Amino acid sequence: MSGQVRTESRGDIAIVWVDHPPVNALSQAVRQGLVDAVAELAVTDHKAIVLAGVNDTFIAGADIREFGKPPMAPGLFEVCDAIEASPLPVVALVQGNTLGGGLEVALGAHYRVATANTRLGFPEVNLGLVPGAGGTQRTPRLIALTDAIDMVTSGKPVSGKRAAEMGLVDAVVDGDLLEAAIGFAAKIVDDPFEERRLSRRSIEMTDEVAEQFAAAMRAVEKRAKGAVAPIRAGECVRNAYTMPFADGLKAERDTFMELVVGDQSKAMRHMFFSERLASKPPKDISGEARPIRTVGVLGAGTMGGGIAMTYAEAGLPVTLLDMSQEALDRGLSVIEKNWRRGIRSGRVTEAGVSERMARLHPTTSFDDLADCDLIIEAVFETMDVKRDVFRKIDAVAKPGAVLATNTSYLDVDAIAAETDRPQDVLGMHYFSPANIMKLLEIVRAEKTADDVLLTALKAAKLTGKTAVIAGVGHGFIGNRLLTPYQRQAHLMLLEGASPQQIDQALTRFGMAMGPFAMGDLAGLDIGYKSRQDQDLNEEERRVYRIADALVEAGHLGQKSGSGFYSYDPETRARSHNPAAEGIVNKVRTELGINQREISDEEIIERTQFALANEGAHVLSEGIAARSSDIDTVYVHGYGYPRWRGGPMHYAETVGLKTVAEKLREWSNGPNAVHWTPSDLLMERAEGDGGFDQ
Ligand code: 3HC
Repeated sequence: MSGQVRTESRGDIAIVWVDHPPVNALSQAVRQGLVDAVAELAVTDHKAIVLAGVNDTFIAGADIREFGKPPMAPGLFEVCDAIEASPLPVVALVQGNTLGGGLEVALGAHYRVATANTRLGFPEVNLGLVPGAGGTQRTPRLIALTDAIDMVTSGKPVSGKRAAEMGLVDAVVDGDLLEAAIGFAAKIVDDPFEERRLSRRSIEMTDEVAEQFAAAMRAVEKRAKGAVAPIRAGECVRNAYTMPFADGLKAERDTFMELVVGDQSKAMRHMFFSERLASKPPKDISGEARPIRTVGVLGAGTMGGGIAMTYAEAGLPVTLLDMSQEALDRGLSVIEKNWRRGIRSGRVTEAGVSERMARLHPTTSFDDLADCDLIIEAVFETMDVKRDVFRKIDAVAKPGAVLATNTSYLDVDAIAAETDRPQDVLGMHYFSPANIMKLLEIVRAEKTADDVLLTALKAAKLTGKTAVIAGVGHGFIGNRLLTPYQRQAHLMLLEGASPQQIDQALTRFGMAMGPFAMGDLAGLDIGYKSRQDQDLNEEERRVYRIADALVEAGHLGQKSGSGFYSYDPETRARSHNPAAEGIVNKVRTELGINQREISDEEIIERTQFALANEGAHVLSEGIAARSSDIDTVYVHGYGYPRWRGGPMHYAETVGLKTVAEKLREWSNGPNAVHWTPSDLLMERAEGDGGFDQ
């Protein structure tokens, strides 16, 4: 037996421990250890086996680091088969995380006892995969089809309590869990358990099941948005009804093997590791995070309100400051309305909303921030206003308080310089709606102290955000890349593509929204105003002539009922806006542009390579530490398809040589002025690797 699996005896019950911290992933050694343990215990006097994991958690799945490498025996499906075939009944003690291959191992066991709050699920689809060790075959043999489809296609875990309702686990236990599992095993030792070997059960594809299946899969296809794994996982579940177990298992494994070498799974595994890497403290810093017991938020508008909600949801008291009682009342009523919406969908209870509201302490006085450990300002985005606010915060905040600005573009060093404690200042850039969006860009300013940075990372963890550290620079990582991306979209609009074509090409590519629909949503007047305030050259003004003309004609986007599109006042449904088309044609004529056909391929290449090229600039300037950080920003903050792995990974998938060739071509073409190929990208394109070498 391997060191990662060990057994002990409690009377005639054997306990098999999976001991592979931190998450008991199913490494080769664990797999071998489990097969050996079951075989060895079969020839002892034990009467039953309890299978458990160390560190209060069962098994979080296959070892993702082994994927893409040559398979090593025994395969996980063989482990599950060996457990199921054990002559001794096996009881899995399910607690903590029981995910993917971990749940498959539990389904190989004959009984499952679980804690009420354990998380059981099949997150394989989040890695671009289907369960590969019988999950899609055993689950529908145990629970209702719709529950099985939901579990394998959504990737979302269910609680132990819900699993018991579904019939996925046999009992919910609490207190001393090992004792409870041993007690359960002692009760069933003499029961026949042939029926509990799930592979022996047969289920049939009746007309009713077929109908349910078709309806469930229609919903899955709609949600998948280009991701293949959920659809393939659903097909595997169907096999459970139409094929003998062994054939269904083989088809599932073949699907797994096909997907694991595919681009989507590689991209999603890249994201899995990128997200975790991004949230880690940089190597050059040391110390401990400061305590966060109380939070202050300045500004009760959309952004400040969302940030306040985030901390209140995490259980922290929040002092919410705005300039007038009226603004506070308005902000609080929006917050309450948002939370109340969650009651209908079951995300929060009535009492939960009251508790959260009670954590908010509205005030119009800066003095009330004196006790806050973390103060985040989300006031109007101009340097003068930010400077003024930071001077006021500096005057009242207690020593050691962390002072954060939620600016999306401005110079955090300049803001920090307004205070007598620049070491305590940093950027915490949230994305709207802040209580929903996962991304938090943490901006490390020149003088930010190590423990201040660590405190911001801790705040991200406390509130379930995915943190990425960025350096100071206009627009940090995310918004900096957005400019050249949007610029290419607007140039193609001038050259002949319609907003619909560009938006559709990009949503088909997988983006949550196209740039023109996004502009309409945000309000076209915002970009207009920002351009008016900037000292743009003629070339740059030309790029946005259509957007500017729309604003000047009163088409401000959704808020005015029309922008690039028209909007139904009731449903907000988008449709063609003939007035916008007229404006587009007029501007093209004024500028003497000969309209041409633009292919979807060109739309994808120009927008995506613009992102990767700017990303490479950001990397070489040290604003992002790794290209994978840029990918994390785009997937979590900008609706970039996770299954493409972010813009930098996408460029690597296409091949940096191809990207470099295009950049060379464009930087010598009619739009040359808008392309500055990154030296770093051109250099990396000479080698065989990617950006992070
Ligand atoms: N394989 C390898 N390493 C894993 C892993 C896995 N399945 N799950 C987690 N880890 C690693 C993480 O990379 C991290 O390593 P690091 O410290 O070096 O960065 C460490 O374990 C701790 O992970 P987290 O920081 O994510 O810890 P949390 O406590 O926040 O979360 C978790 C724990 C919910 C289990 C989360 O890690 C997770 O979601 N893991 C992935 C679960 C998963 O996708 N399982 C299915 C795998 S595919 C499969 O089983 C195929 C099968 O059907 C054949």
